[in-house]
Amino acid sequence: MESISPAEFAARRAQLLAFLASQERPAAAVLSAHPERQRSRDTDYPYRQHSDFYYLTGFTEPNALLVLRPGSAAQQHIFVQPSDPHAEVWHGRRLGVDAAPARLGVDQAYSYEHDIEQLTELLDGVETVFYLFDDTNLADLLQQVGATMRRPKSGYQAAAQYGDLSTYMAQQRLYKSAAEIALLRKACSISAEAHKRAMKACKPGLYEYQLAAELHYQFAYHGALSPAYGSIVGGGDNACILHYTENSSALADGDLVLIDAGAEYQGYAGDITRTFPVNGRFSADQAALYEVVLAAQAAALAELRPDSTLEPAQLAAARAITEGLLALGILTGSLADNLEQASYKRFFIHGLGHWLGLDVHDVGTYEVNGSKRVLEPNMVLTIEPGIYIPRGLGDVDARWHGIGIRIEDDILITADGYDNLTAAVPKTIAEIEQWMRNQ
Ligand code: GLY
Ligand code: MN
Ligand code: MN
Repeated sequence: MESISPAEFAARRAQLLAFLASQERPAAAVLSAHPERQRSRDTDYPYRQHSDFYYLTGFTEPNALLVLRPGSAAQQHIFVQPSDPHAEVWHGRRLGVDAAPARLGVDQAYSYEHDIEQLTELLDGVETVFYLFDDTNLADLLQQVGATMRRPKSGYQAAAQYGDLSTYMAQQRLYKSAAEIALLRKACSISAEAHKRAMKACKPGLYEYQLAAELHYQFAYHGALSPAYGSIVGGGDNACILHYTENSSALADGDLVLIDAGAEYQGYAGDITRTFPVNGRFSADQAALYEVVLAAQAAALAELRPDSTLEPAQLAAARAITEGLLALGILTGSLADNLEQASYKRFFIHGLGHWLGLDVHDVGTYEVNGSKRVLEPNMVLTIEPGIYIPRGLGDVDARWHGIGIRIEDDILITADGYDNLTAAVPKTIAEIEQWMRNQ
């Protein structure tokens, strides 16, 4: 089974320690596990670890802290939930303090119940404390620790400044290791099979949630216990709501249905969109619009290579959509004027894609020092153009109303181009119609 090795987690922490050691003044990093979230009365939402915490530890329990402080003999410290037979009978096994150092490859472990006292000791003399500024719970904890250290005659030396760790983490996570790529391939392949299953199961009268059930069955059966994000199954006009997750309507004969769903496998996300006819046959108008989106995706993909930015792909997709909408009479005027005014944005209302990894909208900036980021091997991103014409767009011919189309694949940048990790899902009109026909 694919997984990230303890040695790889250790190497990630070693790199962060090296980053801390390279600071001018004594520095440490503190990261916290995600909090548990109440769903109703005494039940919680299924727990999901914070991606950065997971990236550095592989640890999946809540109520945990990681502290890295270079220089001393013990550099890696973890706070975990203490063993508690009663709590464990009710809520599940805990690693516990004693087992944590060997299992997680750190020097020292403590109970998170003593976090304030112990953090005060660990951070004494650290001038810059790095943490994720978005982590407001941890900010509160660090405030308390700082207040304790600054008490008169405390004898401690409190931090003089705080640094945001998110830029460092994003830069690290942007480049996927071989083991991460194997997990992404697995997430993508489970997601691809789920889309194929839903396509096959589709027929008029089915409810959107029943197609979602086909997807989720396939995810879970193959060890992806959660979707990577709320699955979107939108028939007809519902496909024009970008993050439609109600999935509550019946699928109508003659409509298209848009499915945007991906499995999360060992923390890594798949993210696929396909749009297909509920009854298995595209109408002429649906096919015409579908071909425009398909051509836009192909044009964008053709521009992907290392040493290029994403800009040529974005321009190619915008041009293909503009040309297609002009040919169908949905846009009017000259190509040059429409490109100049970016009139396609009325119909292609979101970006071309995003980084993909532990988070579906993964970390990593799209610009570096004010310029578009150059693509490099082992980056993974989605390419997902779309056209959406909701009912009620009065100035567009009614024959196009209630059509939302998006086509999304997950792309690994390689040394000589790219690898489409989700190519297994039927995508051309002929492929889709054939797949849906062969029951
Ligand atoms: N599923 C969200 C997205 O495609 O970005
Ligand atoms: Mn996406
Ligand atoms: Mn998606």
